[in-house]
Amino acid sequence: MAASQSPVLILLGPPGAGKGTQARILEEDFGLIQLSTGDLLRAAVASGSEAGRRAKSVMDAGGLVSDEIVLAILRDRMAAPDVARGIILDGFPRTDGQASALDVLLAETGQRVTAAISLEVDDEAMVGRVAGRSTCATCGEGYHDEFKRPAVAGTCDKCGGTAFKRRADDTAETVRERLKAYHAQTAPLIAYYDGKGVLERIDAMGTIAAIRAALGAIVGRVAA
Ligand code: AP5
Repeated sequence: MAASQSPVLILLGPPGAGKGTQARILEEDFGLIQLSTGDLLRAAVASGSEAGRRAKSVMDAGGLVSDEIVLAILRDRMAAPDVARGIILDGFPRTDGQASALDVLLAETGQRVTAAISLEVDDEAMVGRVAGRSTCATCGEGYHDEFKRPAVAGTCDKCGGTAFKRRADDTAETVRERLKAYHAQTAPLIAYYDGKGVLERIDAMGTIAAIRAALGAIVGRVAA
């Protein structure tokens, strides 16, 4: 990595692999900015924008939103000044076209991908992880019915909020469609980043704490 470059980290992995959970931890541990295209798209859907309307039916069915829409929202977000601190891309890129577009976008500012970290998991376990997920409606902190419960039942550990929500696409049936899309269109990017010499692999079937430690060691090494 060039001395002047801020870290550009990519978290690759199927639905439920822990990309969002670990990206939020990396924000806290390293002061980086999480850029989740899933979150950006859900915000577009909630806003009722044209892009959001076009994205909604695709997301509800577990498919991939068009590169055109995704790249437009990502470019907007990357124009904000806070990304200069370094970024963790969560759920992006997901196609060959998005990976090439990211290379071009970074090159415009003399940057490149620092590391693409593949969170390696067992598909069937991911259905259970996603189906048990909820988030705090106030601050967005993520929880799981079995693996990550709030310390006080019904109260968010982070902000004390008492309302929790579940995502419309977190049904077992839709997760299986999202897994298919991942293997068909996103998993090939593992070889793409391996070819560039920036791929790191992590066994992401362990505990959230164990994965945090493994990721922290990688980020400390590549982003120092
Ligand atoms: P997106 O929001 O990106 O969803 P996803 O990739 O399917 O990933 P998830 O958010 O479901 O899982 P995650 O890996 O973040 O897991 P989490 O940390 O929450 O995308 C949604 C949709 O938007 C897509 O289907 C597509 O339509 C569209 N989209 C988004 N980006 C796009 C793009 N670039 N191009 C085209 N379309 C795009 O963990 C899951 C649960 O497990 C949580 O409850 C958590 O607490 C728990 N957990 C986490 N780690 C562990 C662990 N180690 N052990 C036990 N439990 C754990």
